[in-house]
Order: sequence, then structure tokens, then C-alpha cells
Amino acid sequence: MNRRDFLRNTSVTVSAAALLGRTERIFAAGSQKIKVALIGCGGRGKGALKDLKDAAAHLGIQVEVTALADFFMSRAQEAAQKFGVSPELCLEGPDAYKKAIASGPDVVLLVTPPNFRPLHFEAAVNAGKHVFLEKPVAVDPVGARKVMEVGEVARQKKLVVVAGTQRRHQDTYLRTFHAIQNNAIGPIRGGAVYWCGGALWKKDRQPGESDAAYMVRNWVSFAEMSGDHIVEQHVHNIDVANWFIGRTPEAAIGFGGRARRKTGNQFDFFSVDFDYGDGVHIHSMCRQIDGTYGRVSEFFTGADGATWGSGPGKGSGKEGFARQVNVPEIAYVGNPYVQEHVDLLDSIVNGKPLNEAQAVATSTLTGIMGRIAAYTGQLVRWKDLMDPAGGSPWYALELKPSAADFETASVKAPADEIAPVPGKEPKA
Ligand SMILES: NC(=O)c1ccc[n+]([C@@H]2O[C@H](COP(=O)([O-])OP(=O)(O)OC[C@H]3O[C@@H](n4cnc5c(N)ncnc54)[C@H](O)[C@@H]3O)[C@@H](O)[C@H]2O)c1
Repeated sequence: MNRRDFLRNTSVTVSAAALLGRTERIFAAGSQKIKVALIGCGGRGKGALKDLKDAAAHLGIQVEVTALADFFMSRAQEAAQKFGVSPELCLEGPDAYKKAIASGPDVVLLVTPPNFRPLHFEAAVNAGKHVFLEKPVAVDPVGARKVMEVGEVARQKKLVVVAGTQRRHQDTYLRTFHAIQNNAIGPIRGGAVYWCGGALWKKDRQPGESDAAYMVRNWVSFAEMSGDHIVEQHVHNIDVANWFIGRTPEAAIGFGGRARRKTGNQFDFFSVDFDYGDGVHIHSMCRQIDGTYGRVSEFFTGADGATWGSGPGKGSGKEGFARQVNVPEIAYVGNPYVQEHVDLLDSIVNGKPLNEAQAVATSTLTGIMGRIAAYTGQLVRWKDLMDPAGGSPWYALELKPSAADFETASVKAPADEIAPVPGKEPKA
């Protein structure tokens, strides 16, 4: 049977859990309770708590909220109202995460802007908590390496860590990954990853507002808070490339610029060539400009075929799919955001190892590598960010204000409208 026939004829039945290297879950309905603390009660934070509750309901597990923590009390209170939680469990301020972690949860959901993630992750793992870690998990190489290090501590402590890179829990992606593993398109030779979309929000500065509050409310405008959108949004697609290819890029060159932004210091668009070695290149492009063509996906060309990351095409922009990929049926709740919490709870309750810290930290660092390449106009190598012996200035790059600065009230916002200039700008 040649590969084409294999693809046409094979229909294996495996579960999402099995694809993730685990066996089927077994729960006794109503016999389990999970206590959870939410840190960062914004759009995704409330979404993540709802997804966890939906996953728990699916598995017959009860959920008890022990704390709702946010920089702003009003945000925590909104979440309390939404979930019918006592307002007494609301915590506010840049150090609210400490009390939330101390409130007795089994699992903490870390859903603040990404610059806070390494600090909060370390505190949660030190306290022996299972963690849901929203992506991205850092904004600079120091932070990304911290998450790798803490992830290792979590592994030793047998803590479960699930990341918000939900494509790794999504049936279409799991099927395509499985098919590629089974040589559906031959070894991956190259491809492209895309997050081309519109502008995000911008909030005007309020009279008397502190720099810290202004930056927190406008975190998607400042690289120090978000990592820039090549990290913040595009990490999803970069993560699929790292996952499918099975390694991180060796080097990146790229460019980007700023055309329509009025506030903050980020670029509007990036174009980066990620060199994975062995002749494999992935072109990454991302854009946040209204009125432009939208595409959020991944495309891979193999030695013997090609595929989108989510498999055979459905809808616009997928017309380039070159080959039918027959794939396994998987047990799947129908929503990747809920599935990742099904997998989290399954692992916690049934003691199954699951730790996605390294995967999400390396993909975050890959995005950061692309950003540094575009901001500086230089070739950036993976070892510049991972190997202290190389002497690269980017190894020790730590963007300021740091997460800790918010706790000591020493935040000075970077000037609006001053973006990096490639070839001249040492900032990365
Ligand atoms: N997986 C996905 O598809 C997905 C989708 C959207 C957002 N996200 C990620 O989720 C995270 C949050 O994004 P969002 O859209 O909810 O943003 P948001 O602005 O709606 O919410 C962030 C919340 O965190 C709070 N916060 C800020 N600093 C804090 C601190 N130090 N301690 C406690 N709370 C703090 C803010 O006040 C705000 O309420 C980001 O990392 C984002 O990239 C992931």
C-alpha cells in the first residue's frame, strides 16, 4: 500500500487523551470536588473559569471557587457576579495573586497579561498548585527560561500544567498531527504560519491615572506587557509549527513596522523567516490592521504532500489544501477551550502526568526570537536566547517595567508612539 492509499483507507479510532499519550478517563460522578482560584478576571479569565466549569460538569466534578483576583477590584467583582461567587472572595492589586494562591485552591488559573506569568507561575508551583497557564507565558528570554525552569519543578512535584495553546487539544489539529506523524505528507520541508487580523482595543488615559493602571488597561499596546502581537496572538500558530515539526527554529530573520497605531510601542505587522535547520523554513506573518485580509492558520508542505494545520480545508483561505488526510476519530467535547480543561481535570483527578510548560515556553520564546529579529534587523539564533556561554546581549534581555515593578509601585510607562528602529535600535 503506498502512502496515498494508506491515507485513503486508514481510519483508526483513538481518543484525544490517547493522542496526548494518556488513556481514557474514568470518573465517579459527583464524587470529586476541585477548588480553583482565578488570577486575572478579564475576558479570557472569565472564559477560562467557565470552560473549567463546563469541563467539570462534563466529567461529573464539582467546582468551588476559592478566590477571584485582579489588578482592579471592579474586574474581580464582575467575575463574582457572573459566577455567583461571594464578593468576599474578590482580591485586588498587583500582589492579589499571593492571597489567591494561599486561599486553598487545588488549581490556579493564570490569566493576566503575559508579563506577569513567570512570577505567578513560580509562586503557584512553589505552593504546590496545579496550574492552567494562559499563553503566551513570558515577554522576554529571561521570563521564558524561568517558565521552563519552574515547569521542571512542577514535573518533579507531579503537578499538572496545561497551557492555553488550545490547538493541542483540538480534534482537527490532533488528527492532522497524528496523520503527519504517520507520514501522511512525508517529512515537513517548509510552510507558513499566519495571524493576520484587525486592530485590538485602545483605552484613553484617564485623568490622574497611574502609569501602572494605564499599562494594565492597555496591555495589548505595550511590548513590555504583551510581548508584542507576534508573541501574544501569533504564538498559537508558531506553536503548531514547533509541535508538528518537533523542534524549535535554529535562527530567525525578519522585519516589521508600524503604520496605524497611535499608542503604545508595538509594531502593526511582522514578517519572519524561521529557519528550523535541515533546509526547513517556516514563514511567519502577523498583522493587526483593520480592513486587511484575515487569515489565522498554518500551512505545511511535506516531501510528499501538503496540509493546513487544522487539516482539510473548510471555509475561506483553505483552498490550497493539496491532499485528503484520513485521520482517527477522537473523543472530543466539541470545544478546544473546554477540552483543555477536560484534560487538565482528568490529569489532576486521575493522577495522570500532563505538563505543557516546556512546550508553551519554547513557543513563546520562538515568538520572542521573531520579535527581536524584526525589532533589531539582526539574525537571532536560538542559542543566543538559551546559551549563556554565547555572550549574546539578548540572553539577559528583561523588559522593564517588570512584573515585580508593579508590586513596588515603581512603574514608568514607556513613551507612546516610540517604536523600535531596525538597524539602529538596540532594544528588543
Ligand atoms: N487562548 C486563547 O485563545 C486566548 C484568547 C484571549 C486571550 N488569551 C490570553 O489571556 C490573557 C489575558 O487576556 P484577556 O483577553 O483576558 O485580557 P483582559 O485585559 O481582558 O484581562 C486581563 C485581566 O488581568 C488583570 N490583571 C492585570 N495585571 C494583573 C495582575 N498583576 N494581577 C491580577 N490581575 C491582573 C486585568 O485587570 C484584567 O482584568 C493574555 O495572556 C492573552 O494572551 C488567550
